[in-house]
Amino acid sequence: MIELITNVEEKIKNILNELKIDVDKVQVVESSRPELAQYQYNGAMALANKNGFKPQELAQIICDKLMDEEYISSATVAGAGFVNIKFNNSALINQLNNLNKEIDKICEPKNYTIFIDYGGPNVAKALHVGHLRSANIGEGLKRLAKKVGYEVISDVHFGDWGRQMGMVLAGIQEKYPDLPFFDENFEGIYPTKSPVSSKDLEYIYPYINAKAKEDEALMDKCRQMTYELQKGRKGYVELWKLFVQESLNPVLDAFKFLNVSFDLYEGESTCNDLIAPMVQDLCDRNIAYLSQGAVVIDVQEESDKIEVPPFIVLKSDGAAMYSTTDLATIMSRHKRFSPNEFWYVTDNRQSLHFIQLFRASHKAHYVDDETKLYNLTFGTMNGKDGKPFKTRDGGVMSVLTLIENVKTEITKKMQGNGVEDEKVCEIISSATLKFADLSNNRETDFIFDIDKFCALEGKTGPYVLYSTVRANSVLNKVSSIDINECKLVDIENEAYMDVILNAMKAPMILQKAFDQKALNIICDFVFNLSNSFNNFYAKTKILTESDEIKKRAYLKLCKIVSQINEMFLDILAIKIPDKM
Ligand code: ARG
Repeated sequence: MIELITNVEEKIKNILNELKIDVDKVQVVESSRPELAQYQYNGAMALANKNGFKPQELAQIICDKLMDEEYISSATVAGAGFVNIKFNNSALINQLNNLNKEIDKICEPKNYTIFIDYGGPNVAKALHVGHLRSANIGEGLKRLAKKVGYEVISDVHFGDWGRQMGMVLAGIQEKYPDLPFFDENFEGIYPTKSPVSSKDLEYIYPYINAKAKEDEALMDKCRQMTYELQKGRKGYVELWKLFVQESLNPVLDAFKFLNVSFDLYEGESTCNDLIAPMVQDLCDRNIAYLSQGAVVIDVQEESDKIEVPPFIVLKSDGAAMYSTTDLATIMSRHKRFSPNEFWYVTDNRQSLHFIQLFRASHKAHYVDDETKLYNLTFGTMNGKDGKPFKTRDGGVMSVLTLIENVKTEITKKMQGNGVEDEKVCEIISSATLKFADLSNNRETDFIFDIDKFCALEGKTGPYVLYSTVRANSVLNKVSSIDINECKLVDIENEAYMDVILNAMKAPMILQKAFDQKALNIICDFVFNLSNSFNNFYAKTKILTESDEIKKRAYLKLCKIVSQINEMFLDILAIKIPDKM
């Protein structure tokens, strides 16, 4: 498709230049009225006015000349001077036969590295829907970048080092004061099993947090324990290791369900030893300075329209915080991997933090001047009431609960359809949740409507899986024909041509989704392709077609649809079941 479109654009540009109309870039876009045209050119009107033509007159000249091209079947003027374009069937088919070549071209190795930080679950806090979005979007963007030829390194960046760690220590001590971890003089061997379960942990932190807000002495104690943990007090470190592991178990299960994995499983704590020398270095070079006991870096710029407060490197109590570990982490990542770009996939409420972090990193030369730093943000997943997602009793909705709800709903539906296989239901449930999340524009808030997202019809995970499984099952029924030897041919079958017209856009979609870091573009495309495929399937006898040439063309089309959906679903980290 890319080739066909660039050919038309080039052609229009030449026509305009021959008319002495200066134009840099001609853009042909998908038609907004598919019943009238496949593609359209909307630039004639503005150019006509500037160059002394009547808009429709100029559009007509363009159409007449376009008709000289054998790959165009019709070019007509519409409305005030729009140019409507339809391609020749054989040109379309030729293009689709070159699909793999076009995709390979886009996916050529780039020798350019992107470091991507996503997921970011916090130890001792329930995994909430914000983490679900970060995990899904991050995984998709990582796979997309890899697919189009970039080197990618991913890290989960666990939240395992801030004040909440001291709070959990204090909470465990309140419950089990006699544990040896708290005895500074203990010389023996520490227990190797966490005294608290991951379930306990979900309660301990909120409980102590609420209590400490009312109790200054307890808050001081939490601060002190955080500080001592970070300084390496042995008993605290040993206990911390145990509850971190305990708390991560359910998180890792959720990631497995979502088909999300990382190259590095590091955390805020990983760079702890780098913090003291970093603070020293920043102060020595006068990049950071002391302000009311805290160590800060000024990051306000003259052109700022909003106030960008100083970046806090170290709090006055000496404890490392979110900003501290992020700065030390970027420094270490740069040293170890020197990527060309960093991507941080987070909730849009963190954007100020990342503006500060990025400026501080550049100012301190902890990354190269040309290193590009991006915060790829996303909006909130809300409940049906339009407010942040809550459980029935008003608590924060944990991802695990959400997963269970989707599983229950999907299993019920699948059993209704005669599918009993638990593994299949699990794959479909995962696809449901992921597609629901990813099909929204990343930046906007959206409403999680379980009935809508689990529907077997409409723009849903189950629907696109269903279409793919259907195409695969047709192919599985013809063992005697080598599909690779089959060819698409020009057939008078509107539904068939419609699938071709959709499928051809695949390379363009791949490029566009990457350029815009927008996975919803992929979801829309896969949905449209599936839709056109289902329509074709409903209207066309494929396996019983008696004309062998037609039959082979239809099979080839099934193969192409299956291959395209597989490629894109893999980018979205959605698995395809064998049957449904
Ligand atoms: N743990 C953080 C949170 O729950 C997200 C971490 C994002 N990554 C980072 N390097 N700051 O909000």
